[in-house]
Amino acid sequence: MALLLMAPVLLKADDFTVGNKTFLLNDKPFVVKAAEVHYPRIPRQYWEHRIRLCKSLGMNTICIYVFWNIHEQSENKYDFTENNDVAKFCRIAQRNGMYVIVRPGPYVCAEWEMGGLPWWLLKKKDIRLRERDPYFMQRVKLFEEQVAKQLAPLAIQNGGPIIMVQVENEYGSYGEDKAYVSEIRDIVRDSWSKYGKAPIMFQCDWASNFEKNGLDDLVWTMNFGTGANIDNQFRRLKELRPNTPLMCSEFWSGWFDKWGARHETRTAKDMVAGIDEMLSKGISFTLYMTHGGTSFGHWAGANSPGFAPDVTSYDYDAPINEYGLPTQKFFTLRETMQKYSDSSLPKLPKNLASLINIPEIKLTEHANITFGIDSIVRNSRLLTMEEMNMGWGSMIYTTTLPEVSSKSVLTLNECHDFAQVFVDDKYIGKIDRVRNERSISLPPVKRGQRLCILIEAMGRINFGRAIKDFKGITNSVTITTEADGHELTWDLKHFDIMTIPDDYQTACNALKNKAKEDALSGSNTEITHCLASKGYYRGFFNLKKTGDTFINMETFGKGQVYVNGHPLGRFWSIGPQQTLYLPGCWLKKGRNEIIVLDVVGPQKAAFSTKEGKQLDCPCLFAQDHPEIDKLNLEKSRTHNEPGNKPDLNSATPVAKGSFASGNGWQTINFAQPKRGRYLALQALATHSGKNEVAVAEIYARGIGGKRLSRESWTVKYADSEDIIRGNNTADKAFDLQESTYWRTEKSSSLPHLIVIDLGSEQDVSGLEYLPRAEQGAPGSISDYQIFVY
Ligand code: GLA
Repeated sequence: MALLLMAPVLLKADDFTVGNKTFLLNDKPFVVKAAEVHYPRIPRQYWEHRIRLCKSLGMNTICIYVFWNIHEQSENKYDFTENNDVAKFCRIAQRNGMYVIVRPGPYVCAEWEMGGLPWWLLKKKDIRLRERDPYFMQRVKLFEEQVAKQLAPLAIQNGGPIIMVQVENEYGSYGEDKAYVSEIRDIVRDSWSKYGKAPIMFQCDWASNFEKNGLDDLVWTMNFGTGANIDNQFRRLKELRPNTPLMCSEFWSGWFDKWGARHETRTAKDMVAGIDEMLSKGISFTLYMTHGGTSFGHWAGANSPGFAPDVTSYDYDAPINEYGLPTQKFFTLRETMQKYSDSSLPKLPKNLASLINIPEIKLTEHANITFGIDSIVRNSRLLTMEEMNMGWGSMIYTTTLPEVSSKSVLTLNECHDFAQVFVDDKYIGKIDRVRNERSISLPPVKRGQRLCILIEAMGRINFGRAIKDFKGITNSVTITTEADGHELTWDLKHFDIMTIPDDYQTACNALKNKAKEDALSGSNTEITHCLASKGYYRGFFNLKKTGDTFINMETFGKGQVYVNGHPLGRFWSIGPQQTLYLPGCWLKKGRNEIIVLDVVGPQKAAFSTKEGKQLDCPCLFAQDHPEIDKLNLEKSRTHNEPGNKPDLNSATPVAKGSFASGNGWQTINFAQPKRGRYLALQALATHSGKNEVAVAEIYARGIGGKRLSRESWTVKYADSEDIIRGNNTADKAFDLQESTYWRTEKSSSLPHLIVIDLGSEQDVSGLEYLPRAEQGAPGSISDYQIFVY
């Protein structure tokens, strides 16, 4: 009653606007110093601590993405509770005197599964993602309305901390479609306007492409990384809009890591120099990432071109490390930030959790992976994971084989992402999308033998057009062999298709169902046996004291870990990440549970399955420090380690053109000699029009046109090498033998790339190329690009 009688108090809310060459906070010039931090990558118990650390670094704003697929994991079921309570995250920021920038997508990139888009969009197979596809736009609108419902009341004009809202994300590196970006702008603006005036809206892109989709009524900001020439980055923007405030909306402090490649770092010196320069010029910025955190569970995405899944740690070499400790980079940056602050920067908050070790944990319970099967469908054609209505996890495809009396090639079109192939209970080998593998050699097989393919999906691609990344086997499975000089191909049909969801409940059910082993294995005898070591392992451990820790996975193969029901993320023995961050707030004093799902199988997995008798069990332990830079790549004859693949997207070729058709040597002289250690030849097209490329010999020419010695040459990278039909590895392109050649696999597609390490830096003035000596020069290249770097 008393409340009702009270006269309304008219407080003038704050305002954040665009002024002349500056942002204005309540009409006063304001430089945004924003820390990018992602709420799902931090346990909510630690949110405030991380925000306070950002503040003590001298930041005045927190910048967040809103991750559509974590809030709407299945259609129409929105979740903004607990770790997804983004409004609460913003209110904590406000309580700590921080402003907030919101980037609600719908696409966010962020090394996050499918760039933040929900997988279930792919159930509409022909969907056009990030385009004006009516279904896509309808779902975007529904989601953005939910976001506005949560966050628009927290806009600055409504008394909240939110000063800016982003429209889409780096659309220039996806396409050119102002109509689409305008529609997204309208959806976001209309949704927010229902709750009062919408905050400043902006769009971010690269200096090289922001004009493609720039809308007149949005603020334009630039994204670039440590080491960039800052004046250059803003030059064009200043020409077009001389009075706009300047802002680097993603200044990359470090970079993300991919499985199979070295941990990325960027020096503190370069990062701080960039921030110093921006602050000295009054340029606003967001430091991406200030604290990266962890892509828990199955939320890590993958990069493209190619398929380069991201590791679980999102440490990013950021000033605040994965587990919330300030690094040397933090302190160096803080000194610079202090120079631009009128008062002394706030003290650092106390560390929240201590770091602990956990001694050996025995994983005494085991259920093989088939106990995780939650649905089986028999179908004449293959079904993808999405068609089976599953978002994340593994699948098993089985079928009976035809009689193939000689060796043959089994090809998965396409394998998304990591397949293990079995015939009856014999393991044949793996097909790994990360390494561009598609095929495997099969021994002669008898009619009726059972083919079993266990395939594990990793994160969906989060960058470029390849975000439409269906999982499982996406098209067909073929067997090819040669008989009497003819090629015979079988397109396999009639599969039993099984899904194994990646979630804690499935893991628990699998272990529980172990009791029903006999019943189940009766129907699935072959696959149960051949998959014996692959599956769920459970153990319990007691703690007197909790704390942050890192589970060492070095003796395990590949999979997922759950502790007390919390998914910690993916592990993979190839590294570079070998430990998984386990936040202390997910542990308890007393008894704790850990479940490992290992789809490859641990090194020590001596479970006897046929008799059902347990002989031994795998163990693990946790340590008080992470290991995120330890590669453990198997030695192989091929050269497609993703970490060795150069990023040619932004590189300029030293020569490009077309080779003539036919046999015999051809020489390309570069316009200018170029100095470098690596020589890359990229084949864009072939004379036959087919995908297969072959090169018999390559020479590099030095100054004056003399051939350089090839004695110290090695292959740095080759995207595809045919070791199934013959020994056609890439080193055959400089083995002095004109009759041997590098050849790409039959099923892999153009462009193809070979990178030669010349052993030391050289001046290269040209390239000599010899196609195969056979009639018609099979595999000869037409369009090419050459790089020296
Ligand atoms: C771009 C994206 C971000 C992130 C970074 C790389 O800038 O906008 O989401 O993917 O690249 O870390």
